Amino acid sequence: MKAIQTEQLSLGYKDELIIEELDLTIPKGEITVFIGSNGCGKSTLLKSLARLLKPKDGSVELDGKDIDKTSTKDIARQLAIMPQSPTAPEGLTVLQLVKQGRYPYQSWYRQWSEKDEEAVQYALEVTGIKEFEDRTVDSLSGGQRQRAWIAMTLAQDTDIILLDEPTTFLDLTHQIDILDLLSDLNEQEGRTIVMVLHDLNLACRYADHIVAIEGKSVFEQGDPDEIITPQLIHSVFGLQCQVTCDPICGAPMCIPYSKQRQMKGANRYATQQVQAN
Ligand SMILES: Nc1ncnc2c1ncn2[C@@H]1O[C@H](COP(=O)(O)OP(=O)(O)O)[C@@H](O)[C@H]1O
Ligand SMILES: [Mg+2]
Repeated sequence: MKAIQTEQLSLGYKDELIIEELDLTIPKGEITVFIGSNGCGKSTLLKSLARLLKPKDGSVELDGKDIDKTSTKDIARQLAIMPQSPTAPEGLTVLQLVKQGRYPYQSWYRQWSEKDEEAVQYALEVTGIKEFEDRTVDSLSGGQRQRAWIAMTLAQDTDIILLDEPTTFLDLTHQIDILDLLSDLNEQEGRTIVMVLHDLNLACRYADHIVAIEGKSVFEQGDPDEIITPQLIHSVFGLQCQVTCDPICGAPMCIPYSKQRQMKGANRYATQQVQAN
């Protein structure tokens, strides 16, 4: 089953093509993660899936229907997106921001309802930002602000959730909290999650499906267990690494080589082991 499909999709800015003739299927009810080096087109592709960027050529289908022929509110009831580095108008409070997630359900005849309120309160609570609801978005720390945007995206209550680097700016605890939350939304409620993640090891841990982007197209895609190899990491990132097994969950884990740090790190680890014993 597919949630989103692209056909011969070409994307770019002015005369420059960033993605070329891409046929991509995003599986329904799964977690898909885009990986690739800086500037390869992950954000460009994600934006186009939400119709925030018009294709140069080809099309994007949402639930079998061309998104160009779907109304903005219809799209927003099916799909929410948190773009990379979003900005809020000055003075907007966290509560006001999160409430904006409910706009697809508002109209002149349908005022703010109990369901809207529940969705907003739920989003504030699960992202851990209820205590900041009266603060302005611009007064928050990077990580708190990130969680406020994630809350707005969740308040939209859509079957498909797109997130561009949702864990950037978050400390490790909050990274895991957000990824666990998205994983629960996927497993318990069948939501389709599509995200860009920089941390390859978290990508391997949480993704059902990884799409590795390189050279204006998809270099490889599939189950992380099957596709993540040192060869793939070298081709996509130009990085030499070892791929081993994540001791916590068994997913592939990439350990990059570096020049001087190898033995020093090994010695430090050995020292810590001794101290722990
Ligand atoms: N609004 C824009 N105008 C012109 N070029 C852009 C714009 N946004 C992104 N680009 C360029 O498109 C390429 C892909 O960018 P992006 O999709 O943001 O990469 P990624 O998210 O993979 O790091 C980069 O070379 C970037 O500089
Ligand atoms: Mg990006």
